[in-house]
Amino acid sequence: MTLLAALDDVGRDPRRGGWSRHLGDDAESTLREWFTEQAGRRGLQVETDANLNLWAWWGDPEGPDAVVTGSHLDSVPGGGAYDGPLGVVSALAAVDALRARGVVPGRPLAVVVFAEEEGGRFGVPCLGSRLLTGSLDPDRARGLRDPDGVTLAEALTSRGLRADHLGPEPRRIARLGRFVELHVEQGRNLAPRGEPLAVGSTIVAHGRWRLSFTGRADHAGTTRRADRRDPMIPAATTVLAARAAMETHGEDARATVGRLHPVPGGTNVVASRVDLWLDARGPLPRALVDDVTAAARRTADAEGCTVEVRAESVSDEVTLDPGLADTLSTITRAGRLATAAGHDAGVLAAHVPAGMLHVRNPTGISHAPDEHAEDDDVASGVRALADVLEELCR
Ligand code: GLV
Ligand code: MN
Ligand code: MN
Repeated sequence: MTLLAALDDVGRDPRRGGWSRHLGDDAESTLREWFTEQAGRRGLQVETDANLNLWAWWGDPEGPDAVVTGSHLDSVPGGGAYDGPLGVVSALAAVDALRARGVVPGRPLAVVVFAEEEGGRFGVPCLGSRLLTGSLDPDRARGLRDPDGVTLAEALTSRGLRADHLGPEPRRIARLGRFVELHVEQGRNLAPRGEPLAVGSTIVAHGRWRLSFTGRADHAGTTRRADRRDPMIPAATTVLAARAAMETHGEDARATVGRLHPVPGGTNVVASRVDLWLDARGPLPRALVDDVTAAARRTADAEGCTVEVRAESVSDEVTLDPGLADTLSTITRAGRLATAAGHDAGVLAAHVPAGMLHVRNPTGISHAPDEHAEDDDVASGVRALADVLEELCR
């Protein structure tokens, strides 16, 4: 798709592969400018809300019962090209399609870009939509730190953005009538079904926990086994406990350690501290995390280390609005799909009828450079989204 291809060079990550686009970095700022310019070309009125989300309005931004579509432009570290951007460019392309059809929306229509959906820099996913809806405390958000220790407040200020306005915007939420997010499929379900599209049904419960193990730094060569208090040992056990818990908590349970940070991080140094992040998903992620943290505490104790466990974000299972899902199915004639990936639609769903359209991903790979959707399927997604918006905006 031409619009997506235009973003190809933005935020390429030669070290990790794929793309790294995070709130407040150069790539993400370029994407914000790109979106503003694209929206302007379409005669849409762009505003940034108090929580760094971008809104491009066709019709009155103050009007009631708005129909909103969009997604996010940030990525995970070394991510793919479709997760997020596909929903944004499809929204813009759907606006073009509606214009070409001569549609005049009977209510305000907006394309939204939510900030830091992946939590790739500051750790909390769906940062912009959580702040907007009041499910994340703005003081906590301002103090979130990136891997270099820069706080969100500092990062925003250094970009000329305001951190003091962060917080819930109930009046804005009250003006929203429905939200529909189009997204690349994550996982491989539609290819075996031979279906290019699906309507979202549920989003599984998920969350992120940080485990910080503290031991004692020492020399890798001269420290006897008996004298070691090596936090890497309980950290390693925790990785294996996560895999074991995934096996004992049922086939929908997921437990991943994708990030682990030893301090000081020298080859010839017993670490003083190891931070690791556990991503847990499934029907009962807290029970899974209890098992993993019990193993972490046991092995930390045996090694003479301590462990501190902190939930960084927890999201309960979300059922997307059943009435809206029925409408989307009727319009698109697509089947249903549950997802184990988090989305701003899941955050919005507690406040506004929210729905999703998933576009087939032939390999199912996501959060990685090989994430893909075929052009024909992308075109089907845009057509379906335009049909949905046309109907909802009547
Ligand atoms: C976000 O895409 C997530 O599922 O973590
Ligand atoms: Mn994602
Ligand atoms: Mn996404």
